[in-house]
Amino acid sequence: MKKIVFTLIVLSFFSCKKESQENFGTTTEATKQKPEELGKEIFEGKGVCYTCHKPEVKTVGPAIKDIAKLYKEKGGNIVAFLQEKSEPIVDPSQYETMKTNFAVTKNLPEEELKALEAYMLSFSK
Ligand code: HEC
Repeated sequence: MKKIVFTLIVLSFFSCKKESQENFGTTTEATKQKPEELGKEIFEGKGVCYTCHKPEVKTVGPAIKDIAKLYKEKGGNIVAFLQEKSEPIVDPSQYETMKTNFAVTKNLPEEELKALEAYMLSFSK
């Protein structure tokens, strides 16, 4: 049921947007989305990040809000972290658990990693 509602929302979103945007034919639906929205989709969809990261509370992993706050304060780069190019700064003691996800995130295109970053950072404004 949730899926249907979500699909409808996404569809209505695109149908409104198309009128104001040129359709280049080759651009995929995803590239027309705002990064934060695409990020949310990946976070809750193929990235399955939500199983360990909830917006406000620490579960298996730190809360998204806490990660966002620290990355903003320290000027960290979530894209680099997800490509395993930078060290953990939030909870290095639990890094091993997070590391298992790099098999997925390292194969995501840069655009999708940036979207994930935009989505996560949107929790700290
Ligand atoms: C199996 C549970 C699990 C899943 C699934 C998971 N994470 Fe994590 N994540 C963790 C844990 C535990 C930490 C704390 C260790 C750390 O800070 O590296 C963490 C930390 C992080 C951090 C902070 C890194 C830092 O600098 O310390 C980011 C950013 C992050 N996760 C993003 C993601 C994204 C994006 C996804 C989905 C692609 C994801 N995580 C999926 C468990 C998970």
